Amino acid sequence: MTTWLDFWSGSPNIYVNDRHLRVHCDRIAQDVARLIGTAPGRRVLDFGCGDALAAPTLAKATGATLLLYDAAPAVCQRLASRFAGAANIVVLDEAAWTTRPAASVDTIVMISVAQYIGRDDLVGLLERMRTVLTPDGAILVGDVIPPEADLVADLVALLGPAARHGFLGAALIGLVRTFFSDYRRLRANLGLTNYTEADFIALARRAGLHAERLPLNPGFNQKRMAFRARKI
Ligand SMILES: C[S@@+](CC[C@H](N)C(=O)[O-])C[C@H]1O[C@@H](n2cnc3c(N)ncnc32)[C@H](O)[C@@H]1O
Repeated sequence: MTTWLDFWSGSPNIYVNDRHLRVHCDRIAQDVARLIGTAPGRRVLDFGCGDALAAPTLAKATGATLLLYDAAPAVCQRLASRFAGAANIVVLDEAAWTTRPAASVDTIVMISVAQYIGRDDLVGLLERMRTVLTPDGAILVGDVIPPEADLVADLVALLGPAARHGFLGAALIGLVRTFFSDYRRLRANLGLTNYTEADFIALARRAGLHAERLPLNPGFNQKRMAFRARKI
């Protein structure tokens, strides 16, 4: 396994159990719905959406048509079978994403993906997103990791919800498992791309976007950052 995409294409075990994945997806969907507001008839693309268990909640809360895309083929296949025939949810494969017409998406959401992409590749990706975005559209980038690694914030983000939602035991076992996991090895070898607030804003500008930091980061880790970017 040499890239992050290889990792996501395998059987990544980053959630301690099904309950953890469900609680995580529900929280992300709630927070993203708050940030988007109601958007009936609009098209919202969740880029790098992962298993997106709460996609129906997000589609219902916003009234938007939700487009789901994930570059890992195994994730893409799971999404296609999970949401076949679901109202207002369309799963895009690689070809559908790369040929997506200009100005055809109103909002793009990308949560917890930027850290797995190099800086220059992220500029290229944001440029592509800028093209598919409508003139008044916005890109919401969440879970951007600041340079100072905050182990305490990561632990609080795992153990707080685990205690509240009844999977504390599994979370503690999960911490031990993480220590011996491919995720930890890859994180040590490949690293994660970090940004200061100013770094991210400058990088977005290279892609022709004006980004501003948001007060809320979708999910349980408020030490990580979220930005809304619009065309300059
Ligand atoms: C940590 S998960 C985040 C999933 C979801 N956005 C969430 O917040 O729960 C990262 C996801 O990003 C996807 N991903 C990583 N690099 C990507 C890329 N270059 N293009 C599209 N998806 C990517 C992975 O396959 C994985 O499903």
